[in-house]
Amino acid sequence: METETITQVEHDVPFKLDVYKGLTSSPKEISSKYFYDDEGSLIFQEITQMEEYYPTRLEMDVFKRNKSAIVERVEAEHVDVVELGAGDGHKTKVLLEEMVSKKKLTRFFPIDISEKAIRELLKNIGASERLEVRPVVGDFFKGLDQVVSHSTNPKLALFLGSNIGNFGPEERISFLTNLKQALRPGDMLLIGFDLKKDINKLMNAYDDPHGVTKRFNLNLLKRINRELGGNFDLESFHHHAFYNPRKGAMESSLLSLKEQDVYIEEYGVSFHFDAFEPILLEHSYKFTMTEINTMAKACGFFTVENFFDSTNGYVNSLWKVNSEAHFH
Ligand code: SAH
Ligand code: AVI
Repeated sequence: METETITQVEHDVPFKLDVYKGLTSSPKEISSKYFYDDEGSLIFQEITQMEEYYPTRLEMDVFKRNKSAIVERVEAEHVDVVELGAGDGHKTKVLLEEMVSKKKLTRFFPIDISEKAIRELLKNIGASERLEVRPVVGDFFKGLDQVVSHSTNPKLALFLGSNIGNFGPEERISFLTNLKQALRPGDMLLIGFDLKKDINKLMNAYDDPHGVTKRFNLNLLKRINRELGGNFDLESFHHHAFYNPRKGAMESSLLSLKEQDVYIEEYGVSFHFDAFEPILLEHSYKFTMTEINTMAKACGFFTVENFFDSTNGYVNSLWKVNSEAHFH
């Protein structure tokens, strides 16, 4: 039985610096990767358990329907599975069990910026004689460098939950190109995409009637209060989510309900908000199959197979690192 020692790697840019940059830029903007402190990771789990937040359910459906076909498509006899932004791993478990039963798997390396998420994952996916689990807490690529330096086996990378949708168009291309470069020819990537769909369904998922997503967004201000000594009054911010059809993305912001100054102790300064001024927190892009196929090619992958849920609202696309593109 392997023990699960958690490896920690440094964060790319500290929270303190990024929040300062975000609150002094115009418009104000803070990266959604900062949602996931301990409390944020638990609220995200609540989101995934809500009826309204369909992406989790749809991806689970893809796995349940196609787990055997997905694992058969992974040719290498023994593969190391590396998951970026693994969260609590409850969907991944379905794939890992299938791999273990087909004797494909050697090791599982979940990477997540949130230690809390990794601890939740370890409750769901324990190491066993047949599965070695090597968790890494840290930013995607710092974590990936760490994994690559410890693994020479063929790899299956996982990027699930439509996490790719939280990157803008340029960012997602550079993310996937970097990922391809960290992999080797023949390695594979299983990536989840939420497909473009009815706007009411999107609105319900990102502005749910229970207020869980609102709490998830407001937790970022709470985190600033907790970690940086801020005095954000959560009551005076409104969660605003809408679908921008030109971008093909849900956009989530917090709007200041009044003109106000918010003091943050760590910087020793106040930040001014006009009435109804937004802080942009998250984009959740939605995709078409044409966009997905173009993206695979642009980043040096080719599509092996697409796996859909029963409503065709979500796809997990299995890509392979294109060996020719690797040398250019
Ligand atoms: N894959 C899971 C979790 C999705 S939530 C699912 O499908 O349910 C997004 C996860 O990515 C969170 O657990 C968050 O902590 C992690 N994450 C966000 N930005 C990250 C980054 N820059 N580096 C590593 N992990 C990140
Ligand atoms: C993790 N990520 C893909 C989620 C999404 O759908 O954009 C985060 C989330 N934001 C609000 N609800 C869920």
